[in-house]
Amino acid sequence: MSEWRAPARLPRHVAIIMDGNGRWAKKRGVPRALGHRRGVEALRDIIRESSDLGIAVLSLYAFSTENWSRSSEEVGALMGLVLEFFRREIDELDRNGVCIRILGDVAGLPAPQRDAVRSAMARTARNEGLRLNIALNYGGRAELVRAARTLAVAVRRGELAPEDIDEERLAAALDTAGQPDVDLMIRTSGEMRVSNFLLYQSAYAEFLFPSVLWPDFDREAYHQALDAYAARERRFGGRQDKGE
Ligand code: FPP
Repeated sequence: MSEWRAPARLPRHVAIIMDGNGRWAKKRGVPRALGHRRGVEALRDIIRESSDLGIAVLSLYAFSTENWSRSSEEVGALMGLVLEFFRREIDELDRNGVCIRILGDVAGLPAPQRDAVRSAMARTARNEGLRLNIALNYGGRAELVRAARTLAVAVRRGELAPEDIDEERLAAALDTAGQPDVDLMIRTSGEMRVSNFLLYQSAYAEFLFPSVLWPDFDREAYHQALDAYAARERRFGGRQDKGE
C-alpha cells in the first residue's frame, strides 16, 4: 500500500492549476479547443479519484480573470465546456455527495454559465462528500479585495471593530470560507508559477510541478503527486503540528 493512503499522509486540500491544454493540442496539430476538451476528461477522472480517496477539498483553476483576454473563439470554447460540464456531470456529482462551490466572481459570468453554476451550488449545498471548488472568473488578488470590502462594510455598519480583524476573520471572508488551507498545490506542464491562484490559502502549501500536460494527467500521475507529498516533511515555519 502506498504511504499516502494512510489518512494522516493524505492532503486535506488539493489545489490544481490545470496547465498545458494548448501545448497538448499543438503537439498533435489539433485545435486548442480540443486540448481543453481533453482537459475536461482529465478533470472528471481526478474529481472521481479525489472522491474515492477521501480528499476533503479539491480546488481546480478553470478560468482566471486574465483568461478573458484570450481570443473570443477560445473564450467561447471554454465557456461552452463549462456549461456542458455542469449539464452532463451534475447528476453524478450530486449522487456521489460532491458539494460544489464556485470560487471567483460568479456575477461576471455570462448568464447561461452563471445560472448553471448557481443551480449546481444550490443543488449540492448540503452534500457531505468531496468539496469541489471550481475557480471561474477567479483571481487571488481580486478575491482578497472582495474580502477587504466585505470586512470594511461590516466595520462601517458597526458590526466589527478594526482591531478584531485577524487572520481567521479574513479567511472567513474569502471564497473558501470554512475550508482548510491548501496542503498541496499542483501545477502541470512544468511551469513554475502560482498565477494568482489561492494566494492566501496556499501560504503553507507544498508545491509540485510535474512536467505532464494537463490532458495527460491521469490517476497514476495523481498518485505519484500524492506519493511525493506524503514523502515531504512539512514544517510550517517551525511548527510541525499546524493544520494536523
Ligand atoms: C491552461 O492551458 C488551461 C486553461 C486556461 C483552462 C483549463 C480549463 C479546463 C480544463 C476546462 C474547463 C473547465 C471546466 C470546469 C469544464 P493553456 O491553454 O494555458 O495551455 P498552454 O499553456 O499549453 O497554452
